[in-house]
Amino acid sequence: MSVSWSLPFEEKISPHGIQKLVSEDAYKEFHNKTVNSYRNFWANVALELEWFKPWEKVLDETNPPFYRWFVGGELNASYLCLDRHVKTWRKNKIALIWEGEPMKDGKPVEVKRLTYYDLYREVNRVAYLFKKRYNLKRGDTVGIYLPMIPELPIVMLAAARLGVVFSVVFSGFSADALAERMNDADAKLLITADGVWRRGKILDLKSIADEALKKTNKISKVLVIRRAGNQVNLQQGRDELFDDVINEIPYNATVEPESVRSEDPLYILYTSGTTGKPKGQVHDVGGYMTLLHATMKWIFDIRDTDVYWCTADIGWVTGHSYVVFGPLMEGATGIMYEGALDFPQPDRWSSIIERYGVNIFYTSPTAIRGWMKNGEEWVKKHDTSTVRLMHSVGEPINPEAWRWLFRLVGRESVPFGSTWWMTETGGILISHTPGLLMVPMKPGTNGFPIPGVKAEVVDENGNAQKEGQRGYLIIRNPWPGMPLTIHKDPQKFVQVYFSKFSGAFYTGDYAVRDKDGYFWVLGRADEVIKVAGHRLGTYELESALIQHRAVAEAAVVGVPDEVKGEVPVAFVILRQGFKPGEELRKELREWVRGKVGPVASLKDVLFVSKLPKTRSAKIMRRVVQAVAVGKPVGDVTTLEDEASVEEVKRAYSQLQEELKG
Ligand code: WTA
Repeated sequence: MSVSWSLPFEEKISPHGIQKLVSEDAYKEFHNKTVNSYRNFWANVALELEWFKPWEKVLDETNPPFYRWFVGGELNASYLCLDRHVKTWRKNKIALIWEGEPMKDGKPVEVKRLTYYDLYREVNRVAYLFKKRYNLKRGDTVGIYLPMIPELPIVMLAAARLGVVFSVVFSGFSADALAERMNDADAKLLITADGVWRRGKILDLKSIADEALKKTNKISKVLVIRRAGNQVNLQQGRDELFDDVINEIPYNATVEPESVRSEDPLYILYTSGTTGKPKGQVHDVGGYMTLLHATMKWIFDIRDTDVYWCTADIGWVTGHSYVVFGPLMEGATGIMYEGALDFPQPDRWSSIIERYGVNIFYTSPTAIRGWMKNGEEWVKKHDTSTVRLMHSVGEPINPEAWRWLFRLVGRESVPFGSTWWMTETGGILISHTPGLLMVPMKPGTNGFPIPGVKAEVVDENGNAQKEGQRGYLIIRNPWPGMPLTIHKDPQKFVQVYFSKFSGAFYTGDYAVRDKDGYFWVLGRADEVIKVAGHRLGTYELESALIQHRAVAEAAVVGVPDEVKGEVPVAFVILRQGFKPGEELRKELREWVRGKVGPVASLKDVLFVSKLPKTRSAKIMRRVVQAVAVGKPVGDVTTLEDEASVEEVKRAYSQLQEELKG
């Protein structure tokens, strides 16, 4: 668990930026009503979408926990994001402002502005290409391994238009990670790019994809989008350049959006879980789009006059929901950028706010802590006074970071919350709702569950935990946006989420509720760590380590980090014949980056001769973690060999000495 600050339960701050401030009691009263009749409540929200065919049943509960929302109803996500707006005055409204990475040599930034009509045209052409050239049909799956370029949302929407399921893999994942996900998803076509600019360098995505393709047998075609202009190898018969094939499609090609069932899959997105391989979270169309519509309105208070910026990468769920589908469905003007928020200068982000006049700003605690470190003069260089509402996401936000952004960009007046949710939930479930009713803010809190969602903090036995006491966060009722299942593993879906607390969804998070009823999510209760807000399973890192010839056993734990929240540290037992040392330490760090991707950088590798294990030979990560963060190890009666604790302690203090020296 990454939280090391104390929670300032008492401090309350009222935003002045909106008119709908209510007391906690008033919110709770309203919330209770929505939860008591949550089926009806959500049905009313869903009516605000446009359906090709109305649903027959709001919620099918015949096979729990495989709930199905709006059964019998038909719609299309690409239609909701494009066609609907093109029929109105929004046709010529800017949908996306894209900014490439600025060059160090001071060359002007490359900017593209796409109206809803432009986006509609492009998505139609790509859908036409998918259909005619690649013969993709409803129910097929495509893999997407793309950086933050406009083609990324375009291909996602084109797939959705045809009822083709897409699976995006974050561009910071390695060849192995990509191959594993593509094999599991049964993708037929892979869409990738020659490369991407990041911090002044080109990351060669096509070579990584080529490596991955050696380990997949189902992908028969690869579409390569040009971005970086670097040399790429095209394999005859398999690879094609997007520019070549799209140019053959007439500019006015259109494809009717498929009328898909509400409960059909829209996409599969892989998450790192406790044990085992990444889990493919399958999201539906009807429930998912309903939750996004609600949260865009209630939480972001999105209006037609707004410029909206969510800084997440589309490769993660935040980007799926709040860069692509949410804002486009609402007809918003959104920003997308390539590169990093602090490159080539620490003020890239604040200059984006100024240059495009951002009104709604959604970012992460890690980003904020990084900016704090660079100093506030970088913020003050720019006029950020257009911002009228902010939220953060991905990990708990420490009150210092919250106060810093609230003061410098929020002018101590705008609503600013920390939205809790996860890949599994599809959209935000616990948050302040300034677009609906807003309770006073407290620095670092998540606020209350959104209307229609019943969240609780419970003890081991599933009983409500006392105020101020840490417990497990669960969701009591089905909600629109929940996953349909884990791809190819329904049993795991039941076991991971619905077996710990019978009938309720177990989030895997620790949380507390304070005396006013506010929720504070503290961090993961399982073996998942959040590194710079990115979700990594320690299991994935460990299995990468033990594939190295020098490693016999490994335990990876998260330790607190000032900027990234948490960083992974590995404790490693070497095989006979291998000697610990700086060389090997470096080699193992590189090895893990190579196996999992640059997103997985081990902070340290510590060599030990034993690891704390239970009598059934399970590594007790809890104990390893306690040592690594210098906390009491707690109950170790189930340990097989208590000396192992001393061993881990020894390795840890030795490393501290080395670092000092
Ligand atoms: C954590 C990201 C505290 C939490 C959308 C959750 C948060 C995990 C918050 C999901 C927040 C996300 N406050 N913790 N505002 N938002 N988390 O799947 O531990 O990448 O379980 O989805 O992030 O991460 P995921």
